[in-house]
Parts: sequence; structure tokens; C-alpha cells
Amino acid sequence: MIIHNQQTMTFTLHTRSTTYQMKADGYQTLLHTYYGPRIRDCDMSCLIPYADMGFSPNPHAAGNRRDYSLDFLPQEYSTCGVGDFRLPSLELELPGGSHTASLRFAGWEIRKGKYTLPGLPAFYGTAEEADTLVLTLEDAAAGVAVELYYGVFEEFDLITRAVRVINQGSGNVVLCRCASLCLDFPHANLDFVTFHGRHTLERCPERAPLRHGVQAAGSTRGASSHQQNPFVILCEPDATEDAGLCYGAMLLYSGNFEAAAERSQYESGRLVMGIHPYHFRWTLAPGEDFTAPEAALVCSPNGLGQMSRQFHRAILDHLRRDPFQHKRKPVLVNNWEATYFDFTAEKLVNIAKEASSLGVELFVMDDGWFGVRDDDNSGLGDWQVNEKKLPGGLGALVPQINRLGMSFGIWVEPEMVNEDSALYRQHPDWALRVPGREPARGRNQLVLDFSRQEVRDHIYSQLKAVLSSAPVTYVKWDMNRSLTDVWSAALPAGRQGEVYHRFVLGVYDLLERIRQDYPHILIEGCCGGGGRFDGGMLYYTPQIWCSDNTDAIDRLRIQYGTSFCYPVCAMGAHVSAVPNEQNGRVTPLETRGVVAMSGAFGYEMDLGKCTEEEREIIRGQIETYKARCNLLHYGDYYRLSDPFQPGPFTAWEQVSRDKREALVSLVTGCASTGNVFPPLRLKGLDPALQYRVNGGGLYGGDVLMNAGYLLPPMRGDYQSVQLYLQAEE
Ligand code: DGJ
Repeated sequence: MIIHNQQTMTFTLHTRSTTYQMKADGYQTLLHTYYGPRIRDCDMSCLIPYADMGFSPNPHAAGNRRDYSLDFLPQEYSTCGVGDFRLPSLELELPGGSHTASLRFAGWEIRKGKYTLPGLPAFYGTAEEADTLVLTLEDAAAGVAVELYYGVFEEFDLITRAVRVINQGSGNVVLCRCASLCLDFPHANLDFVTFHGRHTLERCPERAPLRHGVQAAGSTRGASSHQQNPFVILCEPDATEDAGLCYGAMLLYSGNFEAAAERSQYESGRLVMGIHPYHFRWTLAPGEDFTAPEAALVCSPNGLGQMSRQFHRAILDHLRRDPFQHKRKPVLVNNWEATYFDFTAEKLVNIAKEASSLGVELFVMDDGWFGVRDDDNSGLGDWQVNEKKLPGGLGALVPQINRLGMSFGIWVEPEMVNEDSALYRQHPDWALRVPGREPARGRNQLVLDFSRQEVRDHIYSQLKAVLSSAPVTYVKWDMNRSLTDVWSAALPAGRQGEVYHRFVLGVYDLLERIRQDYPHILIEGCCGGGGRFDGGMLYYTPQIWCSDNTDAIDRLRIQYGTSFCYPVCAMGAHVSAVPNEQNGRVTPLETRGVVAMSGAFGYEMDLGKCTEEEREIIRGQIETYKARCNLLHYGDYYRLSDPFQPGPFTAWEQVSRDKREALVSLVTGCASTGNVFPPLRLKGLDPALQYRVNGGGLYGGDVLMNAGYLLPPMRGDYQSVQLYLQAEE
């Protein structure tokens, strides 16, 4: 619900349990007055302390008032050069060379339904599901207007933000920085939580008190990155999974980003999030506009768990566009770890045959099927089937897979090119590279200049030919290196600062074209595992390969960290062979299944090499996944323990939205004598209901949540157990 009070000039956004408020004050400054647990409608500017702050300039319009300074007043969208020395959201270079921008409130509009952003990912919602507020700010001297967009999803406690800058003047305006989100807090007694990582160990939460000055997470790698994620949290120091005030902020963007938090001299807090200003300069000619990517906020008065569940529900229902939306996804087998580049059609069909006999429904052919590609030195850019490996192309292979009762999926890496490829030999200028320099290679490949329409068109027509040559139902869209040597042959020197962002827009454009042409195809995003796991990609690729690390124990941490923002059904997760390819660890097959099925489930091994006993276990896993998929993927997710803390096990739980079913999964660490586990306290159940556990004992929801459930004794390393709870009258 959006309420505008004409007298107080406040704009109040109410969700089910939160309230967000702004106010245009007497000087037409747009102040941020409140964001927190839901409160009644009142003008919250009464809490702003006006005082004479030494060395903090006062705007000219404030006359002799020395207690009015943008240096401490809570701003809704901060600028530069006008006395606010905290983190700027907008930095412009105006025709005269100045970077000063003074934004004044100029108008507002409330609309039914959620706004959309052309060419950019965004949460979606009908008139019944969401409302939009647009506030217009203007700098008359600069000839610049800024529109602030707010989408309110009441039921999800979700508020989205976006920004459009319009050049209304007569000269060019250069955007040096254009953040999507600015959020001021009246106090900075907050912890800043970011998600760091590396290839094969993505999204590890890191929590530290907000210090004076600026702390930031970000990426300048051209993708959102393995190293930091465009999702951060600010929470009160005592906030836990189940209690305390938390603010989660996600950026729906897959390129360079920065999420910076600041504790000011006056102990207030500020969070600014958006495209990273590194090598970003966007020129707006008179009449042109620029839209910054969307950011989304959830405030939870009841801890981190509730914050995550609100994000999960919103992402499931209003961001992902999945051909399997709220339906069971097929169990897949992928040949990558089984064969790498070394395969023939016969080998693939044999893997598929074994898999289908166990209940697997989708066969995915990974890297190596196209051009000349027997290793990672060549072939990228030539998206034609290598008929030496696959005689007769997909037209011959796919019917064999389909006859096994399985659908067919294929791997592609459209944004990349090898120097050893027909495409590169023909169009060397289509790769990002700086004239006069040899470009850096990554995995022996270069990056195509996706800012250029003709490059995208060429890749599109090749992909279209492949995808139309056989019934393909799944595409794995990979991206295996960071961007370097960012320079486009198609843009003049003054516009090279646009290439990083234009590249991302180009990726979104191609993904959208493929999606529109083949709406039945499930696209899984991938970036050397989870190097581009973000809300932007989830709009186009409803699931993303979570990590190249398939070891079940490392995955406990990776999937735990990922779950703070993203729902489990978006996390590609496979059972692979042991010893694990990435770290050599040996884990029981049962445990690998328990961990992978709390994700978009599949296998990544040659199932033909399994013993009969292992085949039985796999059959059972697939049956369990099929029976419980609705609960696993669309239930509410509860973290029961933190795998980064010492402890005997890691546990999590999914509870159906009506609370009548739940599934608890638990994986132990290394065995030890006297390993008696304390009763496991469950969460999210209905205290009044009775639940039958694994078809055995009947326990009250209140008992299970307050006293707990006694776990069976477990011997050996990395054991696992699943408890299925069903309510009885
Ligand atoms: C990186 C991906 O994460 C892997 O799963 C696999 O698809 C390889 N690329 C193929 O080159």
C-alpha cells in the first residue's frame, strides 16, 4: 500500500510487516524518514535531529539556518558537490565540467501494478499484486531529472527500487555513477554481512560491525563474480536467524557492481548499491535517458531466516520465469564430470541409457560437442555440431535419447571465443581487446564484444539453428572467464566507459531473444560454477549452477551461504562420483543425494560405473526427490545450523506453506566417539499440530520446536538423515 499525505508531503510504503517513508521537506529536499517494522501513518521526520554541525555546509536556500545540512540529513538519493560528503548515489559531469548536482522534489505518481524496466531484469507483478510509486527530482540548473521508482509487494515485505536519469538540457551530460539504491539509517550500530568466495567456494557469509568510513563489496570482473555477491545485509548486532532487525539488499544485475556501506561522523549509516563506478561513464545526449538496474529490499523484524524466506518467495513467484514454475523439475544427468571432452555419441547414449533405467528424465550434453573442441583451446564461437564426434548431428543423437524416455539438453558458452576458431579468424575485432595490446587470456579464450548488435545477431543465428535442429528442452548457458581489455571497436574513445554495461545489456538481450523463441526451454545459468549467481540472471535463467565444486561437504557451506537470498530450487546441485573431482573427499552416496536434492537436482557421473547396491540407492533418491520436490523447492526454508561454526552436523528444513508437511535434512561431520547429538529443535511448524516423523512416532509441533527431536545414532564420517514430517488431525 502506498500512501501520500499532501499536508506533510510524506510518502509511506506499507508492506505486511514493514513501513518505508520519505518526505519532501520545505526546501524540496527528499528526506528518508523511516524504514523498519510496520507502524501507523505519521510523519516520521519528527525524529530527525536538527543541530548546528560544525564544518557541515548549509544549502544556500536554507539562508542563515546552520542546523540544516545535507551532511547529516537522511537522504533518499544522495548526490555530489552540495554538502553531503557521505557516499554519493549520483555523480554527473555537466556540460561546463562541474560535478555538482542538487536534486529537488518535483512531482509524484502512484500506479497500480509493478513498473517494468526495458531491457533489464525486474520483479514483475499485476495490479492486484504490486503498486508503483514514482518520485521525480529535478536539478533545474543542470537540466537533469531523476525518477525514483518504488515497487511495493505487500505480501512479501519486498520493496524494489530503480532510477531513471533524463537529460533535459541542451548539452551532453555524463553519468559517472548512478546507483540503484541509497538507504540511510538513523544509527550505524549495525553489522554488515557480505558474501565472499572464489571459484569452487562461492558465497561464504562474512559479518562485521560497520566501522567509521566506507566498507564495500563489489566486482570489477565484468560478471557479478565468485568473489563477492550483489546481495548484502545490514542487521542489528544481536540479530540471529530467528530474532532481530535485518535489512537485505539485492541488486538485479550481472556485471560490475558495488555495495558500499558507511558509518558517518554523526553515527548514522548509509548503504549505496549499484553499477560499480570503475570504468563507467555513460554519455546522455540532450533528450536521452539512462535506467539503472533494479535493487530490491526486504526488512525483517524477526531475524535473518524470515528475511531469506521473504526473498525466496518473492524470487519464486515474481522474478524467475521458469517453464517449470511451481512444478516439479526433471531429474537430469550431465556428462561433464563423467567424460569431460572425451565422448562419442555412443558413450553419451550409454550414459543416458543407464540414467533412464534409474529414473533420470533429462540428459544434458556438456562442453565439447561443437566446432573443433577436444580440449579448451579451440572451438568457442563455432556453434555447429562436430559431426566427427556426433555423426548426423543432433538430428541423429536426440531421437536416441528421446526413445529412452528422456528429454535432451545442451551446453553453450555464447559470450566467448577461442582464437583458434573460424569465428575469430573471420572477425578478430569482435573480441574485446585494446588496440596495440595483446589481450589477456582466461581459460585460453577471449570475450566477445556483446555490446555490439551484429556480434549478438551472429551468435543468435547459430544458436537458433542448433536449437531448432532437434527437440531441445534445456540449455546450460556458461561463461568461463572474467572480462579484461574492455574496449569496443564499435564505440568512440569517449564512450568506452559504456562497454561493461552494454556488454551486460547485450547478454540480457540475447537471453531474452532465446527465451521468447523457445519459452519451453529451461535455461540454467553458469559461470565457472557460481560466478554469476545473481538476481539479474535469475530473471532469464531460473536456475544457476551453484558451484563447480560438487563435494557434498563443501556444498553444505556453498548452499547455506547462497540461501540467504536465493531459493534452493534456483541452485543447480548434482551428485557426482567419489573421490570428489575437486577436493578428493569421499562421502557416502546417500549424503551426496541429500545435499543435491536441496537444489535443482541431478547427477554428474557415469551411472554405468555404479554397483547394483549404488543403483538401488540412486533409484531411492530419485523417488524421494520426485515425491518431495514440491516441499523441497517451494516450501519455506529454515537454516537449523551454521556449517561455518564448529558443530557435529549441518541441518536445514523445508516446511510446506500450509505447515502440514516438512522435510528435515541433516549431514554429520567427521565421526567421533561419544558423538551423542543433542535433540534437534525444528522451526516453522504449527505448534498446535501433531506430526508423524518418517511414518513412526507422533510428536506435537510445539514439542518438536521447543524440545526437539532425538536423532538416531550415526557412525562414520559425513552421514546423513532425512526426516519427513506429516501432520495428522
Ligand atoms: C564450467 C562449468 O561450471 C562446468 O560445469 C562445465 O560446464 C565446464 N565449464 C565446461 O567447460
